[in-house]
Amino acid sequence: MKYGHFDDNRREYVITNPRTPWPWINYLGNEDFFSLISNTGGGYSFYKDAKFRRITRYRYNNVPMDSGGKYFYINDGASVWSPGWKPCKTELDSYECRHGMNYTSIKGVKNGVEAEALYFVPLKTWAEVQKLTLRNTTNEVKTLKIFSFVEWCLWNAATDMENFQRNFSTGEVEIEDSVIYHKTEYKERRDHFAYYSVNEPMQGFDTDRETFFGLYNGFDEPQTVLEGAPRNSEAHGWSPIASHYVEVTLQPGESKDLVYVLGYVENAQDEKWESKNIINKTKAKATIARFDTVEKVDDALAELKSYWDNLLNVFTVKTSEEKLDRMVNIWNQYQCMITFCFSRSASFFESGIGRGMGFRDSNQDLVGFVHQIPERARERIIDIASTQFPDGGCYHQYQPLTKKGNNEIGQGFNDDPMWLILGTTAYIKESGDFTILDEPVPFDNEAGSEVSLFHHLTVSFDHVVNNLGPHGLPLSGRADWNDCLNLNCFSNDPNESFQTTENKSEGSQAQSLMIAGLFVVYGRDYVELCEVIGKTDEAVRAQKHIDAMVEAIKLNGWDGEWFLRAYDYFGNKVGSNENEEGKIFIESNGWCTMAGIGLEEGMVAKALDSVKERLDCEHGIVLNNPAFTKYYIEYGEISSYPPGYKENAGIFCHNNPWIMIGETVQGRGDRAWEYFRKICPSYTEEISDLHKVEPYVYAQMIAGKDAFKPGEAKNSWLTGTAAWNYYAITQYILGIQPTYKGLRIEPCIAPEWKGFAVTRKFRGATYLIEVKNPNGAMKGVASLTVDGKAIEGNIIPLMPEGRTYKVEVLM
Ligand code: GLC
Ligand code: GLC
Repeated sequence: MKYGHFDDNRREYVITNPRTPWPWINYLGNEDFFSLISNTGGGYSFYKDAKFRRITRYRYNNVPMDSGGKYFYINDGASVWSPGWKPCKTELDSYECRHGMNYTSIKGVKNGVEAEALYFVPLKTWAEVQKLTLRNTTNEVKTLKIFSFVEWCLWNAATDMENFQRNFSTGEVEIEDSVIYHKTEYKERRDHFAYYSVNEPMQGFDTDRETFFGLYNGFDEPQTVLEGAPRNSEAHGWSPIASHYVEVTLQPGESKDLVYVLGYVENAQDEKWESKNIINKTKAKATIARFDTVEKVDDALAELKSYWDNLLNVFTVKTSEEKLDRMVNIWNQYQCMITFCFSRSASFFESGIGRGMGFRDSNQDLVGFVHQIPERARERIIDIASTQFPDGGCYHQYQPLTKKGNNEIGQGFNDDPMWLILGTTAYIKESGDFTILDEPVPFDNEAGSEVSLFHHLTVSFDHVVNNLGPHGLPLSGRADWNDCLNLNCFSNDPNESFQTTENKSEGSQAQSLMIAGLFVVYGRDYVELCEVIGKTDEAVRAQKHIDAMVEAIKLNGWDGEWFLRAYDYFGNKVGSNENEEGKIFIESNGWCTMAGIGLEEGMVAKALDSVKERLDCEHGIVLNNPAFTKYYIEYGEISSYPPGYKENAGIFCHNNPWIMIGETVQGRGDRAWEYFRKICPSYTEEISDLHKVEPYVYAQMIAGKDAFKPGEAKNSWLTGTAAWNYYAITQYILGIQPTYKGLRIEPCIAPEWKGFAVTRKFRGATYLIEVKNPNGAMKGVASLTVDGKAIEGNIIPLMPEGRTYKVEVLM
């Protein structure tokens, strides 16, 4: 069953039934000011950091789900309703929510009145703009009482939820003209406040929550709205809110727009006050003035749309598969921008309180984003590398506001360093900017400790080399990519976190075949980079370590039919046919086949066939099999999950593309394509009632074949799945790969594809690439011409900038 449809021309997903199986959300803002918004107007806003600068409050896991947001209430005399159906849940005559590229519009129709709320964060603006359009489609005069509503958060989203003995006494607001200012804690150490305005004289307001709702009412029936009369309450402590009251009279056929601005301001210490206890509102007023007419708002929206035109024009594809095209051209790239901005911090599954920017996560996210805005990727790489330590190890996460490593989350995940090589080389291949390698970058943000970024790559590589176990394989440390395979943890205390508890690594033999494959893949990238920049000795040195790793994998990492997953603390095999449960795992088979280890000897094909046989199912490839049915103290969190969920045999979508890419190494385009389709959201739209989460973005996990309800997805939006699937489809299936020397064309497709066309902007030139597959091949370029001239091999050399080139490829 579907709850809406794609509108590709407008790049929107249109939800026509508000009762989606889960809140279907969108993100507003893409730089500093952000909002999450659900299809019924739920969600919240923050500035840069969802933990430390939360602007509006949100209650997670609420009853009903998704309560609280940016609401408009309409009292039309006959009914009280909201354009987004919720929170009033008054039955609407029609409902439509359009989620677009960083904007959302929600339209409800009731009793002949149309109300459409448009929400977006204009470019380079520290505010969310809301345009409420009211239209009277009847032959009578309509008088509408409009109440806006937001609830302020007391800035720190964590203490906001727990420290009520203090919180209920600190809240402060100011009200001036039609603007409600939230200034809690501004008097002391904060230099920031928030505000909510409307571009019309208000006829009343409320800023005290209990007064607005009445102590015994919920979001669905605020007392003031039911009575049609605001109380003009001024909050002192308790829970400050902002609600404007505006009365609108509409003649038959008439319409009216109201513009609301929800913004954030920072003032310098010596400019904080206008007069004693009166905040300096200059910056707020300036922002409000930028959006005080409908024309200005419409212009800002048009600007946002053309910004997205430019971003999405860098790579477009035309195949015979509409569902594929809309993912590659629109939604997958959009999701990559979102994961780039938020890492794993704020979604309807990540509270915004627990996690900041992940070291490994952000490097992987870069790969799906770097072609859109290389300059921002550059800055991100430097930020990430600055949290590294001199021995190559690193903080697992850092806070976006301070950019400092987050100690509470811990460190010692031994895969982390290698991802910096992926992020950096992806950036240079895309941009050609080798100067980033000379950029001075500190260790642990310590001024004076700066070394070149290239040096950071060297210590990343050496971190693996210096941490090998008895089988010549990388020690896994706290965990490798799989946060839940905790081989050194041995936790029997339910009060401690698997992620941060003290590890028993002394004398550990816990080694990871996933890191081993990762090391070979990105180690080779490192070697290639060294060669390109003339560091030949370093290339030779590094290559020796890679060769040794390949040998160690073949010798100690092969189980006969597939690659082992690991050795545990005691040196026992993990992911072996010898094991009772967890005989085979996806990650090591993904990485070792991507690395092409044992390709000639048939190991790659065999490993991939075992994956097909044991891990594949209707909804995707599960992480391990058989699922763990009891707690293994020597494996840790992985065995804490019920079978079929998350890291215990869930379809952890992030790693499915590793197998797709592995299949392209083996040249099996049919398999890669089959796997791609299984987890691709636009292909699961028809089963939205089972799948549950948004059909326009990837989810981290789909319940696997051992679960109670296979096919049910969770944790949509913030997942490495976005970048990895984008990377797999564009670079390995469609096969358009940026390299240091030019664009390599190496498609690996299903044999029934007759061809496809790609437009790719690369290093200042535009390539119109037409791939033809008349003979039903899966891989291999037979000939390649640029503007009619034949090219040797399959790399289009860098062409002069500013021009468009026609590329013809015959498979
Ligand atoms: C989550 C984490 C990621 C980790 C993965 C597997 O997605 O964000 O860092 O690799 O889980 O455990
Ligand atoms: C849990 C999750 C895993 C995530 C980790 C982050 O272990 O299962 O996916 O990466 O938490 O802390």
